[in-house]
Order: sequence, then C-alpha cells, then structure tokens
Amino acid sequence: MYRAIKEPSKTGDFKMTEAIRVENLTFYYEGEVKPALKNINLSINEGEYVIITGPSGSGKSTLCRTFNGLIPHFYKGKMEGEVYVKGLRVKEHSVRELSKIVGMVFQEPENQVLTLSVKDEIAFGLENLGYPPNVIEDRIEHVLDVMGIKHLKNKVIFELSGGELQKVIVASILAMNPDILVFDEPTSNMDPKSALDFLKYTVKINKEYGKTVIIVEHRLDYIISYASKIVVLNDGEIVAIGNPRKVLMEDILEDIGISIPQIPLLFKKLKRLLPCCETPLTIEEALSLLGRVIAEGSYRGT
Ligand SMILES: Nc1ncnc2c1ncn2[C@@H]1O[C@H](COP(=O)(O)OP(=O)(O)OP(=O)(O)O)[C@@H](O)[C@H]1O
Ligand SMILES: [Mg+2]
Repeated sequence: MYRAIKEPSKTGDFKMTEAIRVENLTFYYEGEVKPALKNINLSINEGEYVIITGPSGSGKSTLCRTFNGLIPHFYKGKMEGEVYVKGLRVKEHSVRELSKIVGMVFQEPENQVLTLSVKDEIAFGLENLGYPPNVIEDRIEHVLDVMGIKHLKNKVIFELSGGELQKVIVASILAMNPDILVFDEPTSNMDPKSALDFLKYTVKINKEYGKTVIIVEHRLDYIISYASKIVVLNDGEIVAIGNPRKVLMEDILEDIGISIPQIPLLFKKLKRLLPCCETPLTIEEALSLLGRVIAEGSYRGT
C-alpha cells in the first residue's frame, strides 16, 4: 500500500510513533451550555486498531470530528485543550490538509458519494490532486483488490447494496493513501452478515496494510480480539480506556448498557472461579483456557 510521506514533528515533545494525541479536550457546540466532550485525554499510536464505544449521545462522533479538523473548523463551538494528528495541531490545519492524513467513513454512505460510478468515485479525489491517468488507473485496481470488490468496478453507484457501497467509499478513501482511517458506525445500516464481512476489511486494512484504524462500533464480537485499545465514552467523558481484556471486565460497561461480547461476559461471570487467568476474547481462547484450568485443577474450589 502507498505510505504517506511522514510530516516532521511540529511540537517539541511529540513522539513520532503517535498518530493522534488528545490533551484535556473539552468541546461545547455553539450555543450549548453542556459540553459534548469533557476533559478527554487519549493517545493513539501508529498501527493501532482502536474501538470507540458508548451509549447514544455520549460524544463518539464528536470525538471523531476532531480527528480530521471538522471540529473546530466546520462545527463551530468552544474548544479547550488540543488535538494533534501526527504532530499537527488541528486548530492550525485545515480539514483539507488533515484529510490527507485522516480518512473518515461516516455512518450514512449515501451522503459521502460524489459521482455516479464506482470507478469515478475512486478516481475523483485523485483527479483533484492532479495524479496522471496511469497512476489513477493503478490505484483504482489496487484498492478494488484490497477491498475485494474488483467485480464492482464498472457498476453504477445506485445499484450497490449498503455493504458494497461502504466498501466503495473505503476504497475511494484508501486510494488517497491516508495513514489513519476513522470509521463512525460504518455497519449500522447493514445486516449481520454484511456487517461482519465489512468489519473483516477494517481489520485487514490495519493488520495487512499497517493503517491506524479508529472505529466507532457496537458490534464488538468480531473486532474485539483485534483491538489494541478500547475507549468507552459516557456523557462526554472517557469512563474506561485501555486493553480490551481489562476494560471489558469493568462494571461500568454493564451499568451504561454496553453489550459485552459473549465470551468475555461469560468469563466475567466465572471470574470468581478463575481468578488466575487473562480474559479470553474468542471461543478458541476460552476453550484453551478451560482446557488448561481443568487439566491443572487450578479453578477455585479444588
Ligand atoms: N451539530 C451539533 N450541534 C449541537 N449539538 C450536537 C451536534 N452534534 C452532536 N451534538 C450533541 O453532542 C452530544 C454528543 O453527540 P454525538 O453525536 O457526538 O454522540 P454519539 O456518541 O456519536 O451518539 P450516536 O451513538 O447516537 O451517534 C449529544 O448531546 C448531541 O446532541
Ligand atoms: Mg455518532
């Protein structure tokens, strides 16, 4: 995959491995007395797969909007604190500049489509940046291949299913080669099978192509075992953050209605019996753990 040229650090203490840093961020939408985000601190390293979750209205989309400068440049309001994207202070850089580093995929793909055909949709951004036709053609082929949608190349946009359209949007963003991809509830309008299929591609983009992925998602079952970090928001604040194995065990998640995937939930209920062990995230991990404790007789009560 095409790697973007690294920007030199513009701040003294910025670590070059850091993709995004949020410092003491509080944001009030214009005219609002209640902040949509309150004192957020967050660091995301290059190559991470980060899940943001939380109840409706907890500030997930608002936080994502700061990553490509939509806040504070498009959504007006009062912003305290700082957000840095690869060392660039978002307050000082336009959405256009930041979009070269951060690609954003929204919940409603229809609102993001600019052209009529799949090929044109992917070519659009590249043409605007003045790439020669042979480079554009190569990139189209490449991103269609990455997203597993070569067969859609000559289709008309309105013939696509919701899942196919989301993949085309992602392909058009990948073609611009951003280092960071932000997905804001990308599967909310998909059936379970299409959603799972789509989520697999978000993992592929991260694991095979090294992109930093930040995803707002409620369907945690599949992606949780690939995530390096989970951020849980409630009422504009981070209420839990860190390694999924640790965060999923915190009682606050159930209190605020986050649906914990079945395997870690079962383990949480069994935790009293298995105080020794690291939280399993998948069926395979759970089976291996249970096999081990049964063989060793190391569950409590023996
Ligand atoms: N453009 C806006 N102007 C004013 N207030 C807004 C705007 N967008 C969001 N808000 C408010 O900010 C708070 C956080 O909203 P946000 O959309 O970030 O939540 P969310 O976690 O993404 O919710 P959902 O899961 O429903 O998408 C809410 O109180 C919401 O009403
Ligand atoms: Mg939202």
